[in-house]
Amino acid sequence: MGCAVIYVDEKQGRFHLQGRAYSYCLQLDEEGRLLNLHWGGRIPDADLSQLLSFYWEGASFDLRYGRLPLELPTPGAGYYGTGALSAVNPNGDSILCLQYKGYTLTAGKPTLPGLPASYVESPDEAQTLTLLLEDELLGLRVRLMYTVFANYDVLARSMAVENAGKAPLELTCMLSASVPLYGCDYDLLHLKGGWGRERAPQRVPLNQAISRVESRRGASGHEQNPFLAVLEKSATEFQGRVWGQTLVYSGSFLAEAAVNNFGHTRLSIGLHPDMCHWRLAPGESFQTPEALLVYSDQGLNGMSQAFHALIRQRVCRGYWRDRQRPVLINNWEGTYFDFTEEKLLAIAEKARDIGVELFVLDDGWFGKRNTDTCSLGDWVVNLDKLPGGIRGLSEKMHGLGLLFGLWFEPEMVSPDSDLYRAHPDWCLHAKDRVRTQARHQLILDLSRQDVQDYVIQAVASVLERDGVDYVKWDMNRNMTEPFSALLPAEGQLETQHRYMLGLYRVLETLTARFPKVLFESCSGGGGRFDCGLLYYMPQTWTSDDTDANERLQIQYGTSIVYPPAAMGAHVSAVPNHQTGRIASFQMRGNVALAGNFGFELDLTALPQQELDQAKEQVLAIKSLRDTLQKGVFTRLESPFEGNFAAWQFLSQDGEDLLFCAYQRLVQPNPLSHRIRLRGLEPEACYRTEDGQSYSGGRLMEVGLPIPLPKEDFSSYILRLHRT
Ligand code: DGJ
Repeated sequence: MGCAVIYVDEKQGRFHLQGRAYSYCLQLDEEGRLLNLHWGGRIPDADLSQLLSFYWEGASFDLRYGRLPLELPTPGAGYYGTGALSAVNPNGDSILCLQYKGYTLTAGKPTLPGLPASYVESPDEAQTLTLLLEDELLGLRVRLMYTVFANYDVLARSMAVENAGKAPLELTCMLSASVPLYGCDYDLLHLKGGWGRERAPQRVPLNQAISRVESRRGASGHEQNPFLAVLEKSATEFQGRVWGQTLVYSGSFLAEAAVNNFGHTRLSIGLHPDMCHWRLAPGESFQTPEALLVYSDQGLNGMSQAFHALIRQRVCRGYWRDRQRPVLINNWEGTYFDFTEEKLLAIAEKARDIGVELFVLDDGWFGKRNTDTCSLGDWVVNLDKLPGGIRGLSEKMHGLGLLFGLWFEPEMVSPDSDLYRAHPDWCLHAKDRVRTQARHQLILDLSRQDVQDYVIQAVASVLERDGVDYVKWDMNRNMTEPFSALLPAEGQLETQHRYMLGLYRVLETLTARFPKVLFESCSGGGGRFDCGLLYYMPQTWTSDDTDANERLQIQYGTSIVYPPAAMGAHVSAVPNHQTGRIASFQMRGNVALAGNFGFELDLTALPQQELDQAKEQVLAIKSLRDTLQKGVFTRLESPFEGNFAAWQFLSQDGEDLLFCAYQRLVQPNPLSHRIRLRGLEPEACYRTEDGQSYSGGRLMEVGLPIPLPKEDFSSYILRLHRT
């Protein structure tokens, strides 16, 4: 385990989870309550006494219980904030009094039943502490699970709740983490957005109030991401203390930073309590999703790099995790629904000629789908468009030397479909209520096993038969009437979470059955960009907004939590279909290279000069792929703050560096502008491709000027190699 370790002091009732860069210190008080005394920078294990007294400064009107830095706050006995766990008890009250009962410490990390979670590949990669708490009166047992990783500066935390009593309970709030932080002189950071403008960082001061971000949509959503951080007011991208949390989950969630009347902050994240209640019969257990917690004193980049490393290597899984991702072409913006096999093959030939490796056929290949008004659920090829079927097309693509990928939207059903006509009760709906449509579609009720099995079989039969190497798994609307025909009235608030568990079962089954297929998730662009889906599909379509200028912000914001290797990024046509803006081919390529690179345009309509540029871009990407996918990504200059954006990728061995700078609008008589690089060896020499040499010290202290042309939306890429 190297320098990450969990110390247990049974005599003092103390648990010290010490990561490489953080300490997380838990202490029992004299009444057996579990308190959190410190989550922050790493401190020596020998120096934990007296921490509790720090919380006792000042007098208060409040009860003692509510003043304590509780690790698992529960309602009813003097804690007035959002409880991390609450239940309606058999006698109708909602009082929970949890007492510590014991602990186990194990090597490695157990999986979470039915849920995605971070993982290890061998037991020596992590240690897991499980703390058992109990309300004896109710027979309610709680297991808090904490994992410290040897190689990642992330703490994983989740909770399992067991009804060991004799009567049924109803859980009404089950958060994954709820951590008290000393003080409140912080800013809050979250990722806000909407369709086409996902994950824009928003930083606001914390007040004595509850600041919450949430989704009730049955999807993590475009509007808020399941992420929230607090940071010192002086913290920047490069320095200062930051505490961040994200959730390994893809449905409705709540994340909160609450400042109490003692001037302390509580950070919480988990299932949205309004959207998930759970009946717990005697003998049953409920497992929450996992929260990932990062503390960094290296500013926002420090936090992001810790998330990136874990997400890329111990949340994403499978055959494609570490493999070079293929350069792709997707026909959506090139043809929309209007394609023939001949047209697709013509695009594919051009794509093959410029070095593309994967052709992806998007929406419109099945049923009678020539618009978005029909056929979802009928995953049978449209022979008018593709006379040789999907098999025929994939063979031709393979014949061209390309991998072949296919779009599905398996969670949906069109009212105008054979599936809906055969099974009108298979969608989410409430009896006697209108079935609200969005994009002319309804959502299949994946809380039902028969519906899950149908989806598995429908997708699997195409993959088995037709030679498909890649799947784009789309999902284009949020839940309405989130109720299920199979659940009793008192279980209806379980529907959303049961849906997610059903979706995860479907994805687990399909990804296990087709381990070499590369899956990419999508939800109207980036409406479900979260660690839950990254566990099954190692890349996500970042946004339907493919405008290079807009993408600077979207990709910058997304990188606050997610690694570039998780972000789909395509070069599309100009004028851009979302904004009408025109940016050069070079700019579009240089923005798209900071993600999983692809094209999304009709290559047959490109002039030769742009095809040549495209070929050069593909060549460059291929030679940089390891650094782009696995290197350390650092944000250098924010497109939210000015006219420029810049970032860098540094290969894992520190030898290759890619510096990328972008100018949005040309200014006359501009101020001189230099950008400092980061993380280099000051004494080492870094050489550019045209033979110029710089010391690491100079690149970091003096920086690089950016020679940008007199052109709006221009870019500058510099490749350096340590000699
Ligand atoms: C929404 C996706 O984000 C697009 O890329 C495209 O696949 C369409 N759906 C197809 O309907």
